Amino acid sequence: MAVLDIVTYPNKILKEISRPVERFDGELHKLLDDMYETMLAKNGVGLAAIQVAVPIRALLIDLGDEEGKQSKDTLIEVINPEFLEWEGTQKDKEGCLSVPDYFDEVERYEKVKVKFFDRFGKEHIMDADGLLSVAFQHETDHLDGHLFVERLDYIKRKKFEKEWKKLLKKRKK
Ligand code: CO
Repeated sequence: MAVLDIVTYPNKILKEISRPVERFDGELHKLLDDMYETMLAKNGVGLAAIQVAVPIRALLIDLGDEEGKQSKDTLIEVINPEFLEWEGTQKDKEGCLSVPDYFDEVERYEKVKVKFFDRFGKEHIMDADGLLSVAFQHETDHLDGHLFVERLDYIKRKKFEKEWKKLLKKRKK
């Protein structure tokens, strides 16, 4: 397994629309394994394939157990996700490995029902609420070329652009 480089904002790769996975083969499994290693190394709870520059509809979510401990038992591998139902709204602070060190509140659906496939091509249907629901929506946005900062209102978006410039400068030093 390997820790991969994460593509960060404003790299145009992140705007690409990812294509559906057609083969649930060893190549996919290796990518998912490397993505998991990468996500843990960067202290993330979600990661989409496009964030490691692979434009396919695959993503990981691992919110950990009650103590926040992440493992293969709490990992959800999500291939070709599709929302079947959604209801309500909630607002939570979000962050993203492609927008490091920036966190802000985003409005999302409170509950979602999502259909997806696992690494072996087996179909699953899951009801998610709370943070899990947010994670499904945030990660699926990546597959359609969207980042959470695009969902901020005008004033917050301006604040983000300003703070991001400062963060980039700091990182270069
Ligand atoms: Co993200």
